[in-house]
Amino acid sequence: MSPSPDTFLREAKHLVDEALDRYLPAEGTGAPQLADAMRYSVMAGGKRIRPALALAACIAVGGEDEAVLPYACALELIHTYSLIHDDLPAMDDDDLRRGRPTSHKAFGEAMAILAGDALHTLAFELVLARTADGNVARRLGATLAEAAGFAGMVGGQVEDIDAGGVVPDVERLQGIHERKTAALIRAAAVGGGIAGGAEDEQVVALSEFGMALGLAFQITDDVLDETGTAEALGKTPGKDREADKMTYVALEGIDAARARATRERDRALAALERLPSPELLVGLAKFVTDRDR
Ligand code: IPE
Ligand code: IPE
Ligand code: MG
Ligand code: MG
Ligand code: MG
Repeated sequence: MSPSPDTFLREAKHLVDEALDRYLPAEGTGAPQLADAMRYSVMAGGKRIRPALALAACIAVGGEDEAVLPYACALELIHTYSLIHDDLPAMDDDDLRRGRPTSHKAFGEAMAILAGDALHTLAFELVLARTADGNVARRLGATLAEAAGFAGMVGGQVEDIDAGGVVPDVERLQGIHERKTAALIRAAAVGGGIAGGAEDEQVVALSEFGMALGLAFQITDDVLDETGTAEALGKTPGKDREADKMTYVALEGIDAARARATRERDRALAALERLPSPELLVGLAKFVTDRDR
């Protein structure tokens, strides 16, 4: 029997946090403030949903989870860098993240920008230097770069900024969510499959799963911004409305947005029927829409 989503997330978090602690520069070394700022944001917590998805996808195709551990950590480093930069005054201007003052509040803007930069490069160092199979490392590096950059997360963040204060439009909003959030979540699922030795058709199934689940994830994030608490979320709710962000909550209200997240989640679940051992991924998909944090 596979563990409950909460149990699996806890186990995945334990595994990934232990590895991240080894991979991050030690406190007080090199440029000491930089090492501290990198550790401050990564080790603050966070659900570790992207690494958990990578581990679960690897297992879903019959792989061993250690094959994907450097990549799982890399996903979390890219994600954390994106949060540090997302919170900057020039972007969403947030003060609270993962239950702590944001990086720029604690270390100043210059150090926050540079900590993000260093996490970004460390991610690729891990994938390229620590993935045992060189061919797998090359495929994982390309998958991650594509998801994180121009055509993925960074491009989506640009669109997100441009869409502020604009009348919501469903096609435009979906495009923003696909790039700013779903691209990296899809890369978690796809990369897990690649590291686990997936067949081509299984990688396609994981790609469909990851894209749909990524959309469900961001819609749920937008709903939680409206309905969640700072204690549970570790970030300040109500910011999207305040900043006049383009969200599904603004477009169609909370109930319709929740229903939309469930539909995307169900589309994700349907793609899993093509995998041999999808149980952990099924549990994580349910967690994504049912969470309060
Ligand atoms: C928040 O991501 C940012 C989005 C892409 C919506 P998470 O909700 O995964 O944040 P952590 O990692 O748990 O802090
Ligand atoms: C963030 O979306 C997406 C990223 C790529 C970081 P949000 O701006 O909604 O994330 P939160 O709500 O600040 O975590
Ligand atoms: Mg943002
Ligand atoms: Mg934000
Ligand atoms: Mg949000």
